[in-house]
Amino acid sequence: MSVISLSSSSVLEGSTKTDALVIGMARHEDGTIALEPGTAGLDEAALLVALNALGASGKCDEVIKIPGTATKLLVITGLGDFKPRHGYDHETLRRAAGAAARELSGVKSAAFSLPSGKLEQLAAVAEGSLLGAYAFDTFRGTSLKDRKSPLAHISLLSPLTGKAEARKVVKRAELLAEAVHLVRDLVNTPPSHLTPISFCAQIKKLATPAGLKVSIMDEVALRKGGYGGITGVGQGSANPPRLLHLSYSSARPKARYAYVGKGITFDTGGLNLKPGLGMEAMKSDMGGAAAVVAAAIVIAKLKLPIALDIWAPLAENMVSDTAQRPSDVVTTYGGRTVEVINPDAEGRMVLSDALVRAQEVGAKSGGLDALIDVATLTGHQGLALGARVSALMGNDEDLQTIVLAAAKQAGEAFWPMPLPVELRASLDSPVADIANVGDRFGGMLVAGLFLQEFINKDVPWAHLDIASPAYNEGKAHGYTPLGGTGVAVRTLVRLAESACGR
Ligand code: BES
Ligand code: MN
Ligand code: ZN
Repeated sequence: MSVISLSSSSVLEGSTKTDALVIGMARHEDGTIALEPGTAGLDEAALLVALNALGASGKCDEVIKIPGTATKLLVITGLGDFKPRHGYDHETLRRAAGAAARELSGVKSAAFSLPSGKLEQLAAVAEGSLLGAYAFDTFRGTSLKDRKSPLAHISLLSPLTGKAEARKVVKRAELLAEAVHLVRDLVNTPPSHLTPISFCAQIKKLATPAGLKVSIMDEVALRKGGYGGITGVGQGSANPPRLLHLSYSSARPKARYAYVGKGITFDTGGLNLKPGLGMEAMKSDMGGAAAVVAAAIVIAKLKLPIALDIWAPLAENMVSDTAQRPSDVVTTYGGRTVEVINPDAEGRMVLSDALVRAQEVGAKSGGLDALIDVATLTGHQGLALGARVSALMGNDEDLQTIVLAAAKQAGEAFWPMPLPVELRASLDSPVADIANVGDRFGGMLVAGLFLQEFINKDVPWAHLDIASPAYNEGKAHGYTPLGGTGVAVRTLVRLAESACGR
């Protein structure tokens, strides 16, 4: 990851020490461009002439690079509509910084002079620049030498430089970005190299030094323990399933939360084989598990006064003579039987075991204040909300409000979705307690209703369907690269902070 620091230099000074200077441009209502937060020391008039000649509009995600004289490279990044007194919202700044950072691969160092007079703005510029400076080159062989490395040094020019709060905000941004990069790496890692076993091994190495307790159930323990959902999905694969459990607690926790993440290291659809076109994106089907473990590492490193349990049911959904058949019945943890009508609805199978176990452990330690699951659960999520907005469902309006507020503060897009009771009957099975699929219409909500069957009435529960936002198949934008995005991590961390009254 890039090294980031706060600099007290003026714009001009700061820029002479680095290879590039990033400034913002916004558009006035009449279409003219404003430089934000100004260019003290640079020739502003000449710069505006050059930008107009280049046809700059100031729109978000527009980045213009100009070779400079006072500074080696000038990078002007779009902020959209001009906001008087630098009232740019934090997500606009995060994206503008990220878009600039993405354009700076191959460059050693850059000074970012963007509106950052408020702490939340400074935090956003720090996060955006770090998140934009990302590349995934682990699996390049001979082409590695042609790749440009991400921007190595980020220097933030802010009026808040020197303040203790500013340093704290930058430190937090580093931890967040590290975690988001970890999720992106895990999602991008091909299933040839990421299995339930290797996922656990990697996380154990990172989580233990962060102060988390790690325990892993293997396939034998899972079978003995009655985790039929996880073992059923995993039984068709040569890579056996796991249930990964991380736990963290401060001395006097102010709340007890549990996060559960879907961890399918590859989803072929099982005997309900998915079409070949686009199946490669199913390496992202462990994005929920990656998000919850990465968030937990940040929460532990921040030493938040909370108790947190993380559950990641991990399996590979494959096709083989040992794979589960449509009409198989499995007994999930706790005794509920499920008829596996469609082996491609495997996420809810592994989650049902983990959700029940999470509540059992939560109840033993005094009860959960919130249970949150995160899953690349349904294609319907993308059909309903597109590739950039995740869905939020649940059984508790207060918790939904809290999650939405956390997401907004974190700069992530979540939208509330209902769990209509009338769809529940479509999950009735003629032979088992419940079937794993129901009505096709409203499929995202039906999946949510299935999960709700495994939630105790007195447990505040929220379900985050991140199916499409977890993996960017379009083009890079803002601070978001192609491939794994790391979505949900920032919301999960913010949520834990808000549970502690921060
Ligand atoms: N992992 C998929 C959901 C998914 C689809 C994630 C597209 C990301 C992008 C999930 O396991 C799945 O296959 N869901 C089925 C459920 C159906 C069988 C009820 C789906 O959405 O088609
Ligand atoms: Mn599936
Ligand atoms: Zn899946």
